[in-house]
Amino acid sequence: MQDFASRLAAWQRRHGRRGLPWQGTRDPYRIWLAEVMLQQTQVAAVIPYYGRFLGRFADVGALAAASQDEVLQVWSGLGYYARGRNLHAAARAVVARGAFPTSQEGLAALPGVGRSTAAAIAVFAFGRRAAILDGNAKRVFARCFGVEGEKRQWELAERLLPSSGVRTYTQALMDLGATVCTRASPACELCPVAAHCVARRENRIHELPGRRARAPLPLRHATWYVFLRRGQVLLERRPGAGLWGGLWTFPESRLPGAAKPRRLPPVEHGFTHFRLRAQPLLCAVREATARVEAPGRMWVDVADAAGAAVPAPVRALLKSLLAA
Ligand code: ADE
Repeated sequence: MQDFASRLAAWQRRHGRRGLPWQGTRDPYRIWLAEVMLQQTQVAAVIPYYGRFLGRFADVGALAAASQDEVLQVWSGLGYYARGRNLHAAARAVVARGAFPTSQEGLAALPGVGRSTAAAIAVFAFGRRAAILDGNAKRVFARCFGVEGEKRQWELAERLLPSSGVRTYTQALMDLGATVCTRASPACELCPVAAHCVARRENRIHELPGRRARAPLPLRHATWYVFLRRGQVLLERRPGAGLWGGLWTFPESRLPGAAKPRRLPPVEHGFTHFRLRAQPLLCAVREATARVEAPGRMWVDVADAAGAAVPAPVRALLKSLLAA
């Protein structure tokens, strides 16, 4: 379609989203942070975290100087914690090299910045001409052009890129996908390219993008020991860079000498590749057994524990203990 980009840009100027906290800045730190937060999280959920994060780490130097635990504490609840760990590593890389890279390729070399995120930062912060292909763009391309598959969509994204006005066009792709060409109920009557849309013409709006056949997610079981001692709970820091690496969770094995455990209601949590069902076991702990201080373990007041770098289902369980 000849005028895809100009139609989108004209639509964006009248109907695009306004006033999002990362718009109206060209500061690469603020734009990078927003794009990483928005990778797997919706705008409405990102906004409060974005403000808190900037309040705590005002610039890339402050972020690089923080400990990973501080970063994960502010990130906790947003999920996909590799993003938080990569953010911290990338901040240190930026400080070490003296400034943010300004090209898509340079940006894509930062931990946690893929091809599409690098393009978005290059466009919004540095006015570069680069193509994005995020979830929104993929859906718009699949419907409007009937083009699917990573390779063909990237080729299309590059081909559609206008020679100027790339900022407005890029924001338009994101906003059209998020507000008009939505997955479940697209508002085609508001779409600037509906007249050219393959999915609409062929009556395939709900078939495109095609669903990848998904096997049901496997269920994994875990046991969480909730050791309580005088209003304090024992938390353990997960090692490494796994899903919850660096975050504080409940121990998964029994302390010697702890009292007979009582079952609490199970907790479920969905990850991308599996579901977790955790069975919490509440155990009172006597003073003598409480000497389990070790690096990576801490006793913390139940009331304070929810404020630590804990994943969302752990926080939910901590809150239910407080309410009990
Ligand atoms: N999703 C990803 N990046 C975005 C942005 N800059 N604005 C709105 N939604 C987005």
